[in-house]
Amino acid sequence: MVAGNWKMNTTVEQGLELARRVAAGCATQAAVEVAMLPPFVHLRPLREVLSSSRVLLGAQDVHWEDAGAFTGEVSAPMLAGLCDIVLVGHSERRQLFGETDEQTGRKFAALRRHGLRAIVAVGETGAERDAGSTAAVVDRQLDAVLAAAARPPTPDEWVIAYEPVWAIGTGRTATPGQAQEACAHIREHVAAVAGSAPRVLYGGSVTADSALELFRCADIDGGLIGGASLDAEAFVGIVAAAEAAGTGR
Ligand code: PGA
Repeated sequence: MVAGNWKMNTTVEQGLELARRVAAGCATQAAVEVAMLPPFVHLRPLREVLSSSRVLLGAQDVHWEDAGAFTGEVSAPMLAGLCDIVLVGHSERRQLFGETDEQTGRKFAALRRHGLRAIVAVGETGAERDAGSTAAVVDRQLDAVLAAAARPPTPDEWVIAYEPVWAIGTGRTATPGQAQEACAHIREHVAAVAGSAPRVLYGGSVTADSALELFRCADIDGGLIGGASLDAEAFVGIVAAAEAAGTGR
């Protein structure tokens, strides 16, 4: 899977143009699931543009309650039928908006209640990596999500994105060795706790140039792409790298 997280970028018109170009560019890479995660207000118009394409449409966040006095928030029942997949636990939500592990777990549970697939993002800060606590941090983040699940999620219900915070938007990609080690650990940990593990993506400054080597790693099943997902040519190049690496299923 290659998923593009547009973050708070593009007007609706710009988003429609980007979506059209991406859908046209990756029409033939049948082995890779491609997803686009635009801002909420883009979802309805993009749904129409993407209806005849194989690109999945996703949201960047969700609230854990179904409805109520939560000004500015969007709930899972609002997204059901509009989206195929929803990202939760992105490090920007955690760091800039104070989202806790427990809240990420509740968001995950809300998505499952409404039949929405989840991308759960986890990852350590630079200081945590330097302190040797990468595995402990991702385990804690994943355990909070699994604890919120009434029954263990099956691999088709979710995707995990390993995104080291120090690599996001910094141009400093994790080395394939670092990314592989963390993704292998995540797969093993989740399989031990939940009985099975879903696909594990790497995210953090992935470009069309760095993608192939990352996606060739045994435990990296694709990528969550930020900056490069705003450039149709770069994003399509990353999808092509996933196809070439045989990570798509
Ligand atoms: P980046 O963002 O590719 O711009 O580093 C990745 C992400 O935040 O998902």
